Order: sequence, then structure tokens, then C-alpha cells
Amino acid sequence: MKTVHVSASKSYDVLIGSGLLEQAGSLIRAAAPAGRAMLVADDTVFSLYGAALIRALNAADYAVETFVFPHGEASKNGNTYLSLLNAMAEKGITRSDITVALGGGVTGDMAGFAAATYMRGMRWVQVPTTLLSAVDASVGGKTAIDLPSGKNLAGAFWQPSLVLCDCSTLATLPEAVFTDGCAEVIKYGVIADAALFEQLKNPIQPQLEDIIAVCVSIKSDVVQSDEFDTGRRKILNFGHTVGHAVEKCSGFSVSHGRAVAIGMAVASRAASSRGLCPAACAEEIQALLTAYSLPVTTEYGAEALVPAMLSDKKRAGGTIDMILPRKTGECGIFPTPVDALDGLLRAGLEVL
Ligand code: GLY
Repeated sequence: MKTVHVSASKSYDVLIGSGLLEQAGSLIRAAAPAGRAMLVADDTVFSLYGAALIRALNAADYAVETFVFPHGEASKNGNTYLSLLNAMAEKGITRSDITVALGGGVTGDMAGFAAATYMRGMRWVQVPTTLLSAVDASVGGKTAIDLPSGKNLAGAFWQPSLVLCDCSTLATLPEAVFTDGCAEVIKYGVIADAALFEQLKNPIQPQLEDIIAVCVSIKSDVVQSDEFDTGRRKILNFGHTVGHAVEKCSGFSVSHGRAVAIGMAVASRAASSRGLCPAACAEEIQALLTAYSLPVTTEYGAEALVPAMLSDKKRAGGTIDMILPRKTGECGIFPTPVDALDGLLRAGLEVL
């Protein structure tokens, strides 16, 4: 088992290893002792791992209540969130109990927002079951739900008490879902770690535990230096501004990881076109994404993507922060005037 410590407004461990689900009760009790646990999962993940987690929690003397909702991004909305809060209230959950989020980013984001707001805040634990959530969403305390106008528009920074990543749950992921997570892993290589970028040229599965720990360490380091996303943390948004626009234009039929892959390829080509990184860097990023069967182009043009980018919450007045690579392992934050966005995007949409 590997442990990465996160020292933010709250300090907690991220535990990464195989078979941790069976030990979840005692591990959670050590970090967040409580009488009752509100287990939140979507229907797919609950049918796979719900029983095992309830067994483990019961064995550590937690009384477990459950809230199971239909899987998919469409559930990350105000209705599901309010149903969860109502379920907590009806079951008599108190602020001294804990919420346990079992699943991917949708579950973690929504359960975390419920934990942040129920009775003005209660402790919570993340048990990520997707690669994407293991390396990104479960660490750093961003919680949110989507509003009709866009993704993650209502939310809170609310750090968990523990993150428990059982790598054996990732082995059952459908290939498309696993590949989605690979996009976020590649992101860490580009923004912060050239050695990781090189490591990813070899098959990822045999080195999964190591690679997750490296990604979580990078995220921990970034979150520790800028928990509330006013500066350096923005580098984690590499690929996300264009990516969110692609997701939005597609009515969310393009998955998050694939949209981020497109966003990273577009940002890299845009950076190369402006002389911010060598052309070889953009080509290498594009080649690695392609090797992981991730897309590097989109059917949507600047006329559709720019308005979607402008409604993103990363916009600040007249500029939007674009995260662009300087070389593999290093990127910069480039505040881009809104009226320059169209040209930059068009340059990035041109295929090399
Ligand atoms: N997913 C980006 C962040 O946590 O800041």
C-alpha cells in the first residue's frame, strides 16, 4: 500500500493499494470515527462493491444507511443532490456521522457537496472506483453539482477525511472508462512530470499503483500550494477549458476524459502555433494521447466552442486563463483576452 499525505485546510491521507475495500471499515474508523455512515453510490457501482463496503463498515461497528442513484453525469444535478440531503435528514444522520462516497467523479462531487452543506458540514470519505476519480476528482476537496447552464456551477471546497483507492476495483472498469482516466494521467505528465510522461510510453496496467501514487503526489503538492484555485492549481485545468466546451457542445455524449484529451491536443497545438512550445512537444503529446486511443480532434468549430468556453466558470471578467504547455513536464497559465480566444482556438483546432 502507498500513502500520499495531503496537507490543506484539513490534513488527510490518500491510501492506494489492492484489496483495501475489505479493510475499509478499520481504515475509515482510524481516520473518521463515527457511529453511522451514509454510503452514497450510483446503481452500477453499488451492485459491484456496495455489499463488500457495507460488510467492511459493519465489521468496524458503523451502522450504514445507503443512497443509490442512477449512474451518469445527468444525475449530478440539483434534484439528486436535494434527494440525498432529504434522505440524510429522514434517516436522522447528524454532523457527527460520516458520508462515504463510493464511485467515480459524479458520486464524489455530489456526495462531497452534500457533506459540505448538510447541517453546515460533516466529515466524508472518498472511495474512488474509477481511474479518473482516483488520480483527480477524489483528491483536493472540489465538490459540485451541475446547473442547467453548465458543469460544476454550484459547489464548495470541502476536503475529505480520507481517500481510499482500492486498485483492484479499477481492474473491472470497462475499457472506455479506464481510457478516460488515462487522459487525466497523461495530463499530469504534461503539466508537471516529464519522467511520468516517458513512463506512460510503456503499458500502464503493470505500473498502475505507482502511477496513481505519482499523480496523487503531484495533485497533493499543487493543492497544498493553492487549495482554493486562485493561482497554481489552475494548471490542473490543462485541457479542461476546451474539454468542458466539447462536453457541453456534444450534450455530454463525449465523455470527460475524451473531451479533456481533445482539449489538451488543441491547447498543445495552439501553444506550438504561438511559439510557446516546440512543435515536437505538441506532436509528442498528440502521439501519446493517440497511443491511448484518445481523440485529438473534434467535429466542433471555434464558432460553437468559443461561446461554450466563455460561459465556463474559469472566465474572469475580460480574460480566460488558458493552460498551455512549454515542454512536456511544464506548463504555464496564460490569461487570454476574450477577443483573442477565437484566434488561439482556431490555431489549436488545425491538425498538425
Ligand atoms: N480537477 C481540477 C482540480 O481539482 O483542481
